[in-house]
Amino acid sequence: MTNAEITSLEGRRFAVVGSGYMGGGIAQVLALGGATVALADISEEIAVKNYERLLTESDQFVADGLFPAGATELLRVNLRPAASIEEAVADAEFIEEAVPEILAIKHETLARISAAARPDAVIGSNTSTISIATLAEAVQGPERFLGVHYSNPAPFIPGVEIIGHAGTSAATIGTARGLVEAGGKHTASVADVTGFVLNRLQYALFHEAAQVVEAGIATPEDVDTLVRTTFGFRLPFFGPFAIADMAGLDVYNFCYASLQTGFPERFATPKILTDLTDAGKLGTKTGGGFLDVPAERLPELIAYRNRAYVGMQKLLDELGPAPIN
Ligand SMILES: NC(=O)c1ccc[n+]([C@@H]2O[C@H](COP(=O)([O-])OP(=O)(O)OC[C@H]3O[C@@H](n4cnc5c(N)ncnc54)[C@H](O)[C@@H]3O)[C@@H](O)[C@H]2O)c1
Repeated sequence: MTNAEITSLEGRRFAVVGSGYMGGGIAQVLALGGATVALADISEEIAVKNYERLLTESDQFVADGLFPAGATELLRVNLRPAASIEEAVADAEFIEEAVPEILAIKHETLARISAAARPDAVIGSNTSTISIATLAEAVQGPERFLGVHYSNPAPFIPGVEIIGHAGTSAATIGTARGLVEAGGKHTASVADVTGFVLNRLQYALFHEAAQVVEAGIATPEDVDTLVRTTFGFRLPFFGPFAIADMAGLDVYNFCYASLQTGFPERFATPKILTDLTDAGKLGTKTGGGFLDVPAERLPELIAYRNRAYVGMQKLLDELGPAPIN
């Protein structure tokens, strides 16, 4: 649950520890959202250097139309390099850690943050892969600690994965979601298991793609073309469950049976799919599947889908192909 009382970042005091690639981008997002953000690193010199880099980068983003006019001036007002981690976090209500993905560095940094922070401060880690429970071992007051996983590049990717460990309080999760959303992002809350959800799904696709290439079934170029121009084309608008509902869960059942002739274990039919089809819930055509889309809204959904895909093609035509080859 998101804390709905948090509607703005104006006047809030935050800290970001680790002012590199991700920490810098996260600090930009939060400061442009209205919070006052202290930026800390190993030393004040590095924090100052990265602060200057973020302002220069912001000038370029404004010139390119990627940040709104006035963004750099707002960053000058809201963002500041800190003398130390302790100084940065002392009065912050939300602290995001973005130091390198090395357990010893994370532990040492989180111990320092939690010793110096207000007892009621929420502390997030941007870790991509380390278990939140393992990181929490170094945190004083682990109930206020969780994963707040921004994606790269943080200023431009809207989704943030929120990961509570078993001891994270519900209030902490609600506050973190509220603050991140007030900074203009979308959140999804997931459990603390290896890979969380984002990387698990991303690597599942990469893993299968790599096997396709290794087996000589298609080249990397042809795999990328297929993903981009077919099912990947849907993904900005619909996730896997909405796509399955729209395709028809009976169709998915048949496809699983077919896939099992080649890969019986890897593509065993998921129980949650069989349970729905056994109950006659076949997706949007029956008014219910994984998601609840009433049958009478189907024409509206199809019209949205068609507009979305045509709009997506227009954007691609306007941008031209990615400069990869
Ligand atoms: N780069 C990505 O694409 C990406 C995406 C999502 C999540 N992440 C995660 O974000 C975190 C940061 O990654 P990054 O790519 O920004 O790394 P980075 O190397 O660009 O930045 C790390 C920063 O931490 C600072 N630092 C190192 N030790 C420190 C210490 N003891 N105290 C304070 N600051 C210290 C470094 O000086 C540097 O400025 C990692 O956990 C990473 O897994 C990265």
